[in-house]
Amino acid sequence: MKNRVNIAIFISGKGSNLKSLIKFSLLKNSPIKVKFIISNNSKAKGLIYANKYKLKKKTYNFKNSKITEVKLLKLLDRNNIKLICLAGFMKILSKNFIKKFKGKILNIHPSLLPKYKGLNTHERVIKNKEKFSGCTVHFVNHKLDSGKIVLQKKVKVKKNDSPSSLSRRILKEEHRLYPNALKKILLNP
Ligand code: GRF
Repeated sequence: MKNRVNIAIFISGKGSNLKSLIKFSLLKNSPIKVKFIISNNSKAKGLIYANKYKLKKKTYNFKNSKITEVKLLKLLDRNNIKLICLAGFMKILSKNFIKKFKGKILNIHPSLLPKYKGLNTHERVIKNKEKFSGCTVHFVNHKLDSGKIVLQKKVKVKKNDSPSSLSRRILKEEHRLYPNALKKILLNP
């Protein structure tokens, strides 16, 4: 597709959603171009995909998050980034940063929001004997996991599920959901 939207993907860990977004960006009619991978963790496994797919990457330790965010905003501006996709990014961005990228930051969360915001979602879902869980792509606002929902996918919780078996099944759905959410926003706004 012509006029693809430049995106930056922020990660902290494994990067399986990053990989699915990169693959999506390589499709002929994809509406996105991955311009930068940002990590707060130099040991994030997902950074291997930057080398594998020859993409630019940058790590910030966020020790002084104010200074880091100023640098980050400059980098995003220089690279003409129009949309940020958080994909397992474990830092909370400041109100000021979110304001500067208002309506242009997405996140993926492994639950059916507004239920189970925050960490350890699968443990809590199993403990509460929920019949369903799932995943959600949403816009980021200043409240944790609370911005407008773009898309969700329901996943059945099995009787013998452990947090890791449930997480594996939900993660598979996440890999489809994030590209579909981007299509929804960028192709049929
Ligand atoms: C995913 O479950 C995502 O929903 C959550 O963090 C996890 C990241 O996994 N925000 P990965 O690094 O993309 O494999």
